[in-house]
Amino acid sequence: MEKLKIGVLGSGDIATRISKTILHMEEIELYAVASRTYDHAKTFGEKFGYKKIYMAYEEVIQDPEVDIVYIALHHTQHYEFAKKCLAYHKPVLCEKPFTINRYQAEELIWEFAEKGIFLNEALWTRFIPSKNKILKILEDGLIGEPKMIDVNMICRICDNIRMTDINMGGGALLDLGVYALNFVSMFFGNDVEDMKTMVSFWETGVDEQEVFIMKYPQGKIAVCKVSMVGNGSVEGIIYGTAGRIEISDVMNLGHVKVYNLQNEVVEEFFAAEGTTGYEYEFLACKKALENGLTECEEMPHSETMFLMKQYDRLRAAWGFDYPCEKGLN
Ligand SMILES: NC(=O)c1ccc[n+]([C@@H]2O[C@H](COP(=O)([O-])OP(=O)(O)OC[C@H]3O[C@@H](n4cnc5c(N)ncnc54)[C@H](OP(=O)(O)O)[C@@H]3O)[C@@H](O)[C@H]2O)c1
Repeated sequence: MEKLKIGVLGSGDIATRISKTILHMEEIELYAVASRTYDHAKTFGEKFGYKKIYMAYEEVIQDPEVDIVYIALHHTQHYEFAKKCLAYHKPVLCEKPFTINRYQAEELIWEFAEKGIFLNEALWTRFIPSKNKILKILEDGLIGEPKMIDVNMICRICDNIRMTDINMGGGALLDLGVYALNFVSMFFGNDVEDMKTMVSFWETGVDEQEVFIMKYPQGKIAVCKVSMVGNGSVEGIIYGTAGRIEISDVMNLGHVKVYNLQNEVVEEFFAAEGTTGYEYEFLACKKALENGLTECEEMPHSETMFLMKQYDRLRAAWGFDYPCEKGLN
């Protein structure tokens, strides 16, 4: 495959960010895009040089030249449009959260696997090279035994309508909380022994902020604070018996500092210059497709399913269902 031709569903915030990124990539081509309104699709498509501009999302899916469909729609639309891609045997890269709940995720993963079609969650953090550098620091024992993780995903984005609209899958957990749980899962694994949580709700019924605490073997504990109403920090810290790792942004792992017990910085690194962090998920998809794989090793289906179950577990503890899943669980 020379260039991976992507077809993008939607022309909102994340579609804009990935288009700006791919514009500078040699391996990926901004091939097709669709929006609900043709005028918007046209403005968007022309701005980034898309070859094909469509009036309906389905037209992108049906275009035989599209190598992979990237779903950049609201959470509640991920399942519906992944299903449409399946009907046309189209490989899919789907934004996070993969679906609204584990049942939708299980169904998609099973059906795509049965037909041997590529499907992956676009949880970009998993694909960023700094992740492996941090894992190596932990493996090498630079901070001793990792004992505690403290994550903040406290970012005031409640003015965005999709964050508060319950019918669009609004709420802090499925947007910001995804990154907090993912961060802990990347560095402490998935062997959760216990979980405690507290939540408060926005007037529309979605979760506006929450805390959750998880316990792991060897007495490890992770504390996550998530808020779409407060503002100020998206930092993650891994505390060990011989030092700590401070990560300025748990989404892009952009600036990492390692401290020893004397509070001295012993290692420091930044994201590669000129990158946004979104490049790597598309490169991983290209490689997987070239190798005939149906998922990326960086973010396999098993990890997507683990995270989906954690979101469901938290929502069950809060007694919070979305209207689209009432009576289904
Ligand atoms: N990986 C990341 O860094 C990241 C960052 C932000 C968001 N995301 C994920 O990406 C997804 C989209 O988020 P976003 O921030 O890009 O949202 P957004 O700016 O609101 O865009 C979503 C797009 O969905 C389409 N849409 C379809 N039906 C709609 C409706 N009834 N009302 C409004 N829009 C509708 C619109 O595209 P058209 O009008 O063009 O059809 C809209 O632009 C979410 O699942 C989110 O979690 C990921």
